[in-house]
Amino acid sequence: MKTDNRLDESTENLLKVIEEYYENKDKNRTHVPGKDVIQHAGPYLRKEEFVASIKTLLNEWMVVGENGQEFENKFCELMGQPYGIVTNSGSSANLLMLAALKSKSTYNLKKAKVITPAFCFPTTLNPIIQNGFEPVFVDVNLGDYNIDVDAIEKVIDKDCKVLFFSHNFGTPANMKEIMKIVEEHDLILLEDNCDALRSQYDGKLTGSFGIMSSCSFYPAHHITLGEGGFVACSNENLARVVRSLRDWGRGCYCVGKKANESKTGTCGKRFSNWIDSMPNEIFDHKFVYGEIGYNLKPLDLQCAMGLEQIKRLDWFEESFILPKYNDPKKKINWFGFILTLKNTLKFNRHDICDFYENHKISTRTFFGGNTLLHPAYSDVIRYDEALVKYPNATKITTDAFILGVHPSIGHKQIEWIKNVTDEFFISKKLI
Ligand SMILES: Cc1ncc(COP(=O)(O)O)c(C=O)c1O
Repeated sequence: MKTDNRLDESTENLLKVIEEYYENKDKNRTHVPGKDVIQHAGPYLRKEEFVASIKTLLNEWMVVGENGQEFENKFCELMGQPYGIVTNSGSSANLLMLAALKSKSTYNLKKAKVITPAFCFPTTLNPIIQNGFEPVFVDVNLGDYNIDVDAIEKVIDKDCKVLFFSHNFGTPANMKEIMKIVEEHDLILLEDNCDALRSQYDGKLTGSFGIMSSCSFYPAHHITLGEGGFVACSNENLARVVRSLRDWGRGCYCVGKKANESKTGTCGKRFSNWIDSMPNEIFDHKFVYGEIGYNLKPLDLQCAMGLEQIKRLDWFEESFILPKYNDPKKKINWFGFILTLKNTLKFNRHDICDFYENHKISTRTFFGGNTLLHPAYSDVIRYDEALVKYPNATKITTDAFILGVHPSIGHKQIEWIKNVTDEFFISKKLI
């Protein structure tokens, strides 16, 4: 943090107390399988994260600033893109990517079809609808749970301009085939990389294939800022538009306190005749609006936390005991361990999840399954159509669930999960 010199002695002393408090807390952390819940996901935050964010707070700097700037510079590299904008959530990041396509300074896309899977996190689909685009749905594969590439070819027509999907739960989609389709049909590719930070396809990071990609820092994700998100951009123009849309739509792209206080700004002409209809009036670029924007900024203390979380990434990845996956092209940064019940089984998802939960093993359904079956989407597609048109998405709705893949799940916890699983299958006379 660059503003340490403002901390006085009493603040330093306070920080020491806070550091000691978390140090003791960390030392006394225990986990007894069967007694304590094995979380399906959750934040891994220690004294470094708390001290860094409290320090920012004590500095009395609230809005995204120097920590945000440093975080953006570091994090865009982890997404394999040259530019990046930190946001207040992954959902906001998705919203910004779709909104950016409509800008006069980018694609000026007003009406277009966007190809997207029926099985997704809701806020992958929602910004397509919210921005007035028409979603064109395809199914997903069972197994890797990603977009069904063959289905894309079947729905594509001349009005389809955008392809937008997520690499679900850390598994990269089949990018070789997808990039072929993108190039052949001149599609704009957006990647929702919220679940797949540092996953790779054929040695290339997921999130680096599209013109923009998003990430989420909700506590269940690979790293957390409490809440937060990110838009990684492939060029400076897109990054400016996304930043503007994030920051009320303003034209000014100055970042940080110093730039904020500068008379000339980053562009060198902060106070100029910015508005064409008033050529003789001088305006502050900070209050000139080039986009119809939002306010989707995080706090700087979240970014301070994020800078500490980034340092843990290697360790997080090394400390996972991972499920096996047999596609050598895909390096998976697991986000959850997905299981789908076969039709032949004589029990249902509720039976097994309830058994796990009763034994202190936390489970979750896999998003909402087929998103189009949910009440919010009744005007988008008829339920009976959605039910049969996307059978794999529908199967996930009823039969898939998730167990945790988490840095604090060690051998002891895995042994417990294994024993409880055996016990369940014995009770069903299946082993
Ligand atoms: C694939 C995917 N996209 C988007 C989001 C939304 O992210 P956030 O919770 O940060 O809004 C999530 C969920 O957390 C997600 O899993």
